[in-house]
Amino acid sequence: MGKFYVTTPIYYVNDVPHIGHAYTTVAADALARYWKLKGEKVCFLTGTDEHGLKMQRAAQEKGITPQELADRNSEQFKRLWEKMNIGYDDFIRTTEERHMKTVSAFVDRLIKADDIYLGEYEDWYCVPDETYWTETQLLPGRLCPNCKRPVELLKEPSYFFRMSKYRDPLLKHLDLHPDFVQPEVRWNEVKSFVQGEIRDLSISRTTFDWGIPIPNAPGHVTYVWVDALLNYISALGWPDDPEGKFASFWPADVHLIGKDILRHHAVYWPCLLMAAGVPLPKTIFAHGWWTNECRKMSKSLHNFVDPNEMIDQFGLDAFRYFMMREVAFGQDGDFSVTAFKGRINSDLANDLGNLLSRVCGMISRYLDGKLQGAPDLQGIDRELEQGLATTDHEVELCFNKFTFHKALTVIWGFINQVNKYIDTTGPWTLAKDPAKKDRLLTVLFYSAASLRGIAILLWPFIPGSAEKIWEQIGLVPPLVGINRAEQMPFKTFAPKSLIKKAEPLFPRIEV
Ligand code: MSP
Repeated sequence: MGKFYVTTPIYYVNDVPHIGHAYTTVAADALARYWKLKGEKVCFLTGTDEHGLKMQRAAQEKGITPQELADRNSEQFKRLWEKMNIGYDDFIRTTEERHMKTVSAFVDRLIKADDIYLGEYEDWYCVPDETYWTETQLLPGRLCPNCKRPVELLKEPSYFFRMSKYRDPLLKHLDLHPDFVQPEVRWNEVKSFVQGEIRDLSISRTTFDWGIPIPNAPGHVTYVWVDALLNYISALGWPDDPEGKFASFWPADVHLIGKDILRHHAVYWPCLLMAAGVPLPKTIFAHGWWTNECRKMSKSLHNFVDPNEMIDQFGLDAFRYFMMREVAFGQDGDFSVTAFKGRINSDLANDLGNLLSRVCGMISRYLDGKLQGAPDLQGIDRELEQGLATTDHEVELCFNKFTFHKALTVIWGFINQVNKYIDTTGPWTLAKDPAKKDRLLTVLFYSAASLRGIAILLWPFIPGSAEKIWEQIGLVPPLVGINRAEQMPFKTFAPKSLIKKAEPLFPRIEV
């Protein structure tokens, strides 16, 4: 049995969740569910990032303490993940004792390794991004090159991490591991960034106090990005590892992030880990950004796609499916309600939903809900089973490459093969002729067994609907914990209850 450790970014709690947060989290959930069903030992970590100047200011504006704001908003993320059927294994908050202990121990280790020194920071800082910039990196008008908002001049004593020392080792690591940063365009971006000058990183702030103190340095709190990145190992109990989690799960198999936080993950993080003598994560995968009806989402436009609203209006699994299917993971994409409705009606209601109701309806009508083996096998049946095996194999390749949109396309290829199989074999004609009973039994058995395979393949993406399919074809949920390899071959299909005409899985939406 192997292991799989997947993380999302930990989300800032100065604000409420939007589609950007939901997107990464659903992708991580799909990965975690996929490998869990394959029998791997999985850890799926998410959480909230609660320190920093941005949080302190947001709390001040609301007239409450930063801790109160963090408690309130962290809860909103947890509630959304519950509503979205996100099966995380751990939720880390950076204000938790277990996290703060790790940060202090880590910084202490860097101090002992002489990788930290006291200096003075004099440059620009973007508060919304909590990110440092040099004068030459700014956009005209002194704007942050990432979010294009005004930056602030900082001049304060600061501890620095000797990041420049790790430039060459990082370059070497990149060259030896072309999969370290994905997709490839992001690897190229990191490579060219690292080839330029890497300056030492200011890792402490003195002008506010909402952060984790630097050991033995009164007045200095840890830079929020150093604090935040360490969540990936604090949740595993580094350095003491009392439960053996760090030993079992580190290095991470993949950190899923958005492309805007690539530099923090693919430059700062590996340099920090190298300095502390901790192995580097295997992959950092940066996905693209969503626009809303072709417009950039922003606070001033009040146009963030609200996951709660989408789920209430269109249903959870439709929303999960759309996010994973509509855009190639790694590229930018547009959230359009017209496209969303189109996918619900064509992919979900037509292709998948109709297949299920057709098959269950015929089993109920022609066979009184009972399936009894496949007594008359023909070539087309074997082709169908082969189709599922090929699909299963291709889906695994997609999961290895994080191409979720492609995995769904491949699964839909099989759904269409089953639809075509039914059209070609014509159970409604077979049902009219008692001499063709064996053939009818076979065709409907194979159709339902295909639906079992489809439920298994779809469970990572739309777990609730997969469980419904499972139940409607006479099997007993939950899917989690099933022996996947045993449940794929058609001959092991054995419904436990009568199959009835099914409720529509995805009702059609008015366009
Ligand atoms: N707290 C940091 C992450 C620290 S991880 C050690 C942070 N938080 S965030 O809440 O601002 O951002 C969370 C994620 O949302 C980022 O991965 C970002 O890319 C993603 N998105 C924000 N807007 C987005 C879109 N419009 N589209 C897709 N994802 C976007 O950064």
